[in-house]
Amino acid sequence: MSMRLLSQPGGVPAGTHQVPGDKSISHRALLLAAAAGGETRIENFLDGSDCKATAAALRALGIDITFPGNTKVLVKGNGAFLSPVQPLDLGNSGTGMRLLAGLLAGRDVVATLTGDASLLGRPMRRIAEPLEKMGARIIPGGNGTAPLEIHGRPFLRGLDYVMPVASAQVKSAILLAGLAATEPVVIHESVMTRDHTERMLQAFGAKTSRRDNTIRLEPKTRLQSPGKVEIPGDLSSAAFLFAAAAMTPGASVTVTNVGVNATRAGILDLLARMGAMVSLARPREVSGEPVADVTVSGGSLHAIEISADEVALAIDEIPVLLAVASIAEGETVVRGAGELRMKESDRLVAMAAGLVKLGIATEVKGDTVCVFGGQPQGGVVDSCGDHRIAMSFAVLGQRATGNVEISDCDNIDTSFPGFPVLMRDVGLRITEISS
Ligand code: S3P
Repeated sequence: MSMRLLSQPGGVPAGTHQVPGDKSISHRALLLAAAAGGETRIENFLDGSDCKATAAALRALGIDITFPGNTKVLVKGNGAFLSPVQPLDLGNSGTGMRLLAGLLAGRDVVATLTGDASLLGRPMRRIAEPLEKMGARIIPGGNGTAPLEIHGRPFLRGLDYVMPVASAQVKSAILLAGLAATEPVVIHESVMTRDHTERMLQAFGAKTSRRDNTIRLEPKTRLQSPGKVEIPGDLSSAAFLFAAAAMTPGASVTVTNVGVNATRAGILDLLARMGAMVSLARPREVSGEPVADVTVSGGSLHAIEISADEVALAIDEIPVLLAVASIAEGETVVRGAGELRMKESDRLVAMAAGLVKLGIATEVKGDTVCVFGGQPQGGVVDSCGDHRIAMSFAVLGQRATGNVEISDCDNIDTSFPGFPVLMRDVGLRITEISS
């Protein structure tokens, strides 16, 4: 039995809200705290199933992790990991699996990493290949997917690596392995991806630098805890509130304490380009990450063209952007979006199938997707078990002419626990159906 969502038309998104902690940064805080000497208190940790799976995996590796509150974590690390007896289950989380694989590649550990059906279908050669070049043994399953068998080595070689895909997960896996290398690691990105790992490594005492799109890490076997890490609100979750506001003339929503790191914040520029009003207040830095209070107000929206560089800066927000495009005037074209096909589902196909069901002409050709804006109708759509597809259609429902029902929504809990409740607070008419 899985949860469905019913999204009814109407409602004007409004008010000032907070969203749960950032998923990417919560993962990194756990992993670096586990690898560092000393105690780390993590505040505003994302209490979602992905991050909890990573915490459970680290516990099975011998790390002392306790939860003094749902969103407070205490990690006592010492850099030493034990080989677990059972496979480590990373659930639905590509970030958990790829980053943990990188960290363990440089430790004296043998471990098998596994996950749910979606994660078992995702490509892992992209990390296995560079980590093997560094000297670890990483054995993926038959199709180059998980489960992953990791035979770590306490000393790895350095690496000078040209990234074949734009992926912060791959970059981060290499950087975490590089802590245990005997020479520096140098990574060349063709497209800039989120830099949370680089920032947090610095907070834990490692030296990283960036020149243009080249990142360099000096090895550092002993990280030192900064004592406390505060996680900003997740911009990828806030994006659903912002999209809801952008789509409705007269609507205005503020999300306080949300991460606005430029390597993540592409969605704000894209919504503004489509005709929404976007403003930032109280810009500040929290635990090395830029944070602000962000307000988005609705307007009459028009189509835009989005390039591959822009896709990388809004990689997880493209599904909700396609939902917004369904009511924008004209043809929205997203190019260089092939990586969306490698996520929790094939997000290009999942969005196109749902949009077409709601009467919106949508075409996918290779790594390009085109949405012809119009008036979505009601209907039943399949989220394909993908949290971001489910939430994108839930937001779209407010502007359809009839009810939108979305199947297979349990995985919303991986990134945005409490989504339906918060969205009702925002003013959307979203209800859970659990039969
Ligand atoms: C993430 C990076 C992105 C993103 C994912 C989280 C991260 O994946 O889609 O949700 O935390 O590094 P890729 O870097 O593989 O594109």
